[in-house]
Order: sequence, then structure tokens, then C-alpha cells
Amino acid sequence: MQENAPGGAAEIVHPSAPATEPFVAATVHLAAETVPHAGTDPHLEPTDFDTMRVGYGLHERLAAAHLSGGWLPLFTAWLDEAGRRGVREPNAMVLGTATPDGRPSTRTVLCKGADERGLQFFTTTTSRKGAQLAASEFASVTFPWLVVERQVHMEGPCHPLSREDSLAYWRTRPRGSQVAAWASEQSRPVDSVSALEAQYADAERRFAGVDEIPMPDRWGGFRLSPERVEFWQGGRDRFHDRVECRLDAGNWVVSRLQP
Ligand SMILES: Cc1cc2nc3c(=O)[nH]c(=O)nc-3n(C[C@H](O)[C@H](O)[C@H](O)COP(=O)(O)O)c2cc1C
Repeated sequence: MQENAPGGAAEIVHPSAPATEPFVAATVHLAAETVPHAGTDPHLEPTDFDTMRVGYGLHERLAAAHLSGGWLPLFTAWLDEAGRRGVREPNAMVLGTATPDGRPSTRTVLCKGADERGLQFFTTTTSRKGAQLAASEFASVTFPWLVVERQVHMEGPCHPLSREDSLAYWRTRPRGSQVAAWASEQSRPVDSVSALEAQYADAERRFAGVDEIPMPDRWGGFRLSPERVEFWQGGRDRFHDRVECRLDAGNWVVSRLQP
């Protein structure tokens, strides 16, 4: 069921949501423009996979020569262009981690720094991803810039930042996000929304008179140091561009891959 809510947002109400905590559990607010087919085509159901087909071909062929300066200049150029062309949160990346016995899992995190050493992100180190990174150092990330028909993948070891580096970023976080980091044991179950909100209120009270909220021990940054970076660009007839940079005995080797 879908209706327009005040302020141009579409409100999707799931009739099957549980009766307890009805407002929070049953209602999702989405900006109208994030529901492209809403109300425009009565025949296009969200599950109409056969009709979900878009063509690619926005860009000229990606030349291996674009990687002659290494992966970082092209990555930052694509990131900037994605932002300019309307990708919301172009620094959002899908982080893949795995258990030591090879069971993978993914989630989105925000890239908060990129340089020759790799990509930084911040999280709760005791979360599910944190536990997997502690047990198995390798990770992958994907930037899915679908609107601009591009994606970048990176793979490599992923290690914690120093406490000093984590602290430098922690201090830039808005106060509310700092309180939330104290209030949430990320990835652990919680009995109810009210219990979760009580945890936030407790943390707010605890730091009420404190100017600079300290960084929790269980929070910090990681750096993924890529050993493989792949640039992908959509091409006509699904004949896409893929160019890979791979670290081989200390040197970056650039190869074109078949689509
Ligand atoms: C756009 C977006 C950005 C996010 N950024 C972060 C982030 O920077 N750090 C983080 O810990 N979780 C972030 N999350 C939440 C994660 O996707 C995930 O729910 C959380 O980290 C718990 O994952 P885990 O249980 O696999 O450890 C973000 C989610 C979205 C959708």
C-alpha cells in the first residue's frame, strides 16, 4: 500500500507488520524520488524482473592508460564525478568480510578517507564485521555508482587504525552520532525499540555535562589496503569495460578483463 505523506514523501505501510510498536515497526518513509516507478506504471510491479532492463553506454571506452598514475587518481576522479552527477553518498561502499571458514557477509559503510595506503572506514569493532575482521584480515569493498554506470571493487587486507587516527576522526563526528556509538552495542539483539531508545537516553544523560565525549573502546577505524582494484564501466550490449590493477611483488600490474 502506498500513499503520499505530507512533504512529498511516500509512505509505505506494511499491513503484515506486527501490532506491537506499530508506528516504528510498520512505517517506512521514503522520499518520493527514491520510488521511481511509484504510481507511474500500474503494470510494472516491483517483482517484474523481466522488464527490469536498462541499457548502458554513457562513457567512452576506459583505456588501461587511465591507470598509468595508479588506482588512486582514477578512483578519486570517479568518486567526485559520481557525486557531481547525483549519486547520493558516493562514498558509501559495500564491505565484504568473511568468517575464517569462508562464510561471507556484506553491509554498507562510509569511506572516510582514501590515499595511497588505502581506504578508511569507521565502525564498532565488536560488531559482526569487526569480529570477522579480527578473525580473518581480508576484506573487499564495492562502490556501486549505478546512476553513472560505474563500479569500483577493491580487495586486500584490512587492519585497525591506530587509536590516535581513530580519535582524530571521532572528534569530527556530530555529538548525536557520538552518543549513538555509546548507546549501541552494534550487531547485538535488543528487545524492543523502547529499550534501544532508553539506551540512547542513558548515554545522553551520562554525557550531559561533558564537552568532549570520549571515544568508546569498542569503536574505531579500519584501513583496507587494496591489492586488487577493478574499475568497471557499463558498455553497450553488456559489452562492458573492466580494467584491473593488481599488486604483484610490489608493482601494480594493469590488465583489461573480459566483461
Ligand atoms: C549508507 C549507509 C552507510 C553506513 N555507514 C556505516 C558506517 O560507516 N559504519 C558502520 O559501522 N555502519 C554503517 N552503516 C550500517 C551498516 O550497513 C551495518 O548495518 C552495521 O555496520 C552493522 O553491520 P554488521 O552487523 O555486519 O557488523 C551504514 C549503512 C548505510 C545504509
